[in-house]
Amino acid sequence: METIKVFCPATIANISCGFDVLGVALDAVGDEMIVRKVSQKGITITKLEGQDLPMETLKNVAGVAGLAFLEETEYKGGFEIEIYKNIKAGSGIGSSAASSTGAVWAMNELLGKPFSTLELVKFAMEGERLASGVAHADNVAPALFGGFTLVRSYDPLDVIPIPSPSELYATVIHPQIEVKTSDSRKILKTNITLADGIKQWGNVGGLVAGLFTDDYDLIGRSLVDHIVEPIRSILIPGFNEVKSAAIGAGALGCGISGSGPSIFTFGKGETTAQKVGEAMKEVYQNIGIDYEIHVSKINHTGIKNLN
Ligand code: HSE
Repeated sequence: METIKVFCPATIANISCGFDVLGVALDAVGDEMIVRKVSQKGITITKLEGQDLPMETLKNVAGVAGLAFLEETEYKGGFEIEIYKNIKAGSGIGSSAASSTGAVWAMNELLGKPFSTLELVKFAMEGERLASGVAHADNVAPALFGGFTLVRSYDPLDVIPIPSPSELYATVIHPQIEVKTSDSRKILKTNITLADGIKQWGNVGGLVAGLFTDDYDLIGRSLVDHIVEPIRSILIPGFNEVKSAAIGAGALGCGISGSGPSIFTFGKGETTAQKVGEAMKEVYQNIGIDYEIHVSKINHTGIKNLN
């Protein structure tokens, strides 16, 4: 195989209580990429459509993640990459992660899978370092493994895939403003109180237990963020109203998707997820803010080969 076309899923990171450690991949929204083996060494981005992003290898997350991959291989050639973005940069649903993971996953397929999924996570994290200043793995891990993932440890890197109930749907609304992850990280406090820590890790455990046991109510009760949401929600217009509307319409819980401004909810069944979406939309229609909305099943496979 010389060329591969892939679907790179959008992802929700943090999932309220799990800042930098929890994430989930979505099915209904993602980018496409075409990656081609070439004899010339290095990575060249030959096409980038859908978003205004740099194409220079060292300024593009797919380029940087791809170089991290190449450095560890014996392969003497290089790769050309075409990127077709559907995920907006600065939306909070893992735009940079989609590009970073798509590049390294596709290259790995083209070379006959020399690396494990965990190793691909490490390469893709270099793209996140470029995008946000921090090599967080909570978007790239679910994009590569599929489903929900927990980054149990960064050093050494330890990623735990987590199963989820079959009727779980995500509804994500993206008010049309851009929030750079690097900016929304700068406003966070670097210390937390023991009291907040106790509440937060109780919810992380509860969420993971709920996902393992198909306990929708426990999942809902655990979607609480005592640490990051109170600070970051001020950057998101209408956040509290959207959250109340979503819960009122039957969402299990609601929070900021990644570093925002997108807001996510989980619901049981597609009908509820659609109804929740209507309630969230109404808030932005009433305050006159443009939005995009996605209702999605959980993506259990991660990146997909579209060849
Ligand atoms: N955990 C990261 C953050 C995710 O919240 O900054 C960014 O998408």
